[in-house]
Amino acid sequence: MRSVQYVCFCLIQACCVFVCFICRNPSPTLRHPEHWCRSFSHFIAQCLIKDFETRPSVMHLLEHPFIKQAHGKDTSLRHQLSVLIREQQDVGSRTHERINTRKTLIIEICPDDDLVNLEVLDEETIITHLQKRYQDLQIYTYVGDILIALNPFQSLSIYSPQFSKLYHGMKRSTNPPHIFATADAAYQSMVTLSKDQCIIISGESGAGKTESAHLIVQHLTFLGKANNRTLREKILQVNPLVEAFGNACTAINDNSSRFGKYLEMKFTPTGAVMGAKISEYLLEKSRVIKQATGEKNFHIFYYIYAGLYHQDNLKKYRLPNKTAPRYIDCFNGKVMQDIISSKLYKEQFGAIQDCFRIIGFTEEEVNSVYKILAAILNTGNIEFKSTSSQHQSDKSEVPNSEALDDAAALLSIGSEELQEALTSHCVVTRGETIIRTNTVDKATDVRDAMSKALYGRLFSWITAESGMNVGILDIFGFENFKKNSFEQLCINIANEQIQFYFNQHIFALEQIEYQSEGVDASLVEYEDNRPILDMFLQKPMGLLSLLDEESRFPQATDQTLVDKFQDNLRNKYFWTPKRVELCFGIQHYAGKVLYNVSGFLEKNRDTLPADIVVVLRTSENKLLQQLFSSPLTKTGTRIIQTFIP
Ligand SMILES: Nc1ncnc2c1ncn2[C@@H]1O[C@H](COP(=O)(O)OP(=O)(O)OP(=O)(O)O)[C@@H](O)[C@H]1O
Ligand SMILES: *[C@@H]1O[C@H](CO)[C@@H](O)[C@H](O)[C@H]1NC(C)=O
Ligand SMILES: *[C@@H]1O[C@H](CO)[C@@H](O)[C@H](O)[C@H]1NC(C)=O
Ligand SMILES: *[C@@H]1O[C@H](CO)[C@@H](O)[C@H](O)[C@H]1NC(C)=O
Ligand SMILES: *[C@@H]1O[C@H](CO)[C@@H](O)[C@H](O)[C@H]1NC(C)=O
Ligand SMILES: [Mg+2]
Repeated sequence: MRSVQYVCFCLIQACCVFVCFICRNPSPTLRHPEHWCRSFSHFIAQCLIKDFETRPSVMHLLEHPFIKQAHGKDTSLRHQLSVLIREQQDVGSRTHERINTRKTLIIEICPDDDLVNLEVLDEETIITHLQKRYQDLQIYTYVGDILIALNPFQSLSIYSPQFSKLYHGMKRSTNPPHIFATADAAYQSMVTLSKDQCIIISGESGAGKTESAHLIVQHLTFLGKANNRTLREKILQVNPLVEAFGNACTAINDNSSRFGKYLEMKFTPTGAVMGAKISEYLLEKSRVIKQATGEKNFHIFYYIYAGLYHQDNLKKYRLPNKTAPRYIDCFNGKVMQDIISSKLYKEQFGAIQDCFRIIGFTEEEVNSVYKILAAILNTGNIEFKSTSSQHQSDKSEVPNSEALDDAAALLSIGSEELQEALTSHCVVTRGETIIRTNTVDKATDVRDAMSKALYGRLFSWITAESGMNVGILDIFGFENFKKNSFEQLCINIANEQIQFYFNQHIFALEQIEYQSEGVDASLVEYEDNRPILDMFLQKPMGLLSLLDEESRFPQATDQTLVDKFQDNLRNKYFWTPKRVELCFGIQHYAGKVLYNVSGFLEKNRDTLPADIVVVLRTSENKLLQQLFSSPLTKTGTRIIQTFIP
């Protein structure tokens, strides 16, 4: 028996060809015609004839014996009806709702609900079927245990509580495929088998993973609602908050998750929801200081900027009102206009404030969060100039102290101490402490490292920790851009691992099952991506180990890194292209990706000088003290605050 549910995604762009999909099934009938009188069954059957040309008109139907026999019995029938309705309401969730309008699910079982039923199962047939279903807005399809979800790019009305009821405790074949059915199966297995469950969601960026994760949480919250509204609200409010800090506009998804999220929902043995716990990892911190063309910083910066602007509070947080800070406006200088005019930003600010309140942050904490965000923006505006004195030539200073003073004030630390920590560093040699000055480049790096660290730790703090569990893993999808850097490598390795896990469960277990039943297991063919994973993760010769090793050499350069990879990684998954400098290629399970090593070493080091930590710890801001007092775990994940029990 398998206790893991899978959701898998693919993305098919809406096709412009309109193909009318006529279901080959007969017209629906009453569920149990034998429970009803003949004339009623016949009347319903007449009403439900699919072909409008043969369906009787309303005038015609009024002449039906079932209607005619009711004439003159209004009062007694009304009474009977109200009794019946009351009974039905008591039965509640067990009643079947049949809904059949466009944009709602068509409650009809078709043979191609599960592609396993197809006689031929090759790629082309699958695509054709999915496309045909997609035209009809049937976005969900099963392939055995897997649910394929196509992104509808429009809002469908198939996620209301009515639908949660419809899928509650039903056998999978009772209703058309739906993400609620997957969530429901996980929940039912958890309760009946008393075993933890997990749901894996995978697909490329923009395919709909995050939306699906929300829908799963929505249904699970419905199922485990117990009777606590406060708790339900909290669970549903955590996502928008975490996503304001962790999502950003990218070239292909304007609400793209830039972090991995593992959400665990906890239930009592009887299946009542007790709480939820979110763990976050792999936040794309480099986005705080710089974004690629056409992309933006994390949503939260724009939301609070707009919110504070409309509250006339920019001055309080020392944010300029003419030109937006560099971290959120790398290119066009038009961001300030957007911030002032965007209705979305303003609304989202309101929503975020509500989330903070519902989840239970104090006013003081929220104020600290805003201050830290504003401090990060001011930090980005600190500029350095090189100065030379008689003794030192590599010195830098801050010629215009406005941004420096603002950042320091917001962080409740001394401005001079901050400048000191940015433009110099202590070295301890043979028990002696020597102060060395930083070049302009080095000081700039330290400045950006501080911003990233502040944001990263703030995000970890916001992300909360909160029987039996259903875990939901939502990460960013596989990425292959024009320029792929360290971030893409990390994301793609994570996806490679998920693929491996997926293969293990679906294909490897299938093979074992075949073998135990004496069936030829070679029938099941699949691409094993273990060798690629080994190439990345092996110690000490895997790509990541080599990168770590090279990052420890102060003299390492992009060239020495590529050389090291080339010397040590000799297999068909790795190559260095001719005539393209400082790049390497990887043959991932999902395709070939070319990576540009520029910046790899620096991003992998991601070190925050001790001098900065020391200064930040002197802050009078309690939250900031907390962020920099407890040590980070190895993976950079840490869970400080519990806001859900
Ligand atoms: N079931 C759905 N109903 C309606 N719209 C959807 C649905 N799923 C996805 N979308 C649309 O597609 C967009 C992208 O989806 P989503 O953000 O979930 O992608 P993702 O797979 O999480 O991408 P990334 O890897 O970049 O985080 C959503 O903002 C939404 O507009
Ligand atoms: C509901 O949950 C909230 C928050 O988790 C808790 O404070 C409250 O006591 C709970 N109420 C009931 C009736 O269980
Ligand atoms: C992004 O997604 C979150 C979570 O679904 C949602 O609350 C928010 O409104 C979305 N933002 C935008 C700009 O679409
Ligand atoms: C912008 O800020 C300056 C200085 O604080 C202030 O004098 C001015 O009125 C502000 N302008 C707007 C449009 O808020
Ligand atoms: C790699 O990235 C750097 C920095 O963005 C850029 O200057 C260089 O041209 C890129 N190399 C290739 C081969 O694209
Ligand atoms: Mg996402």
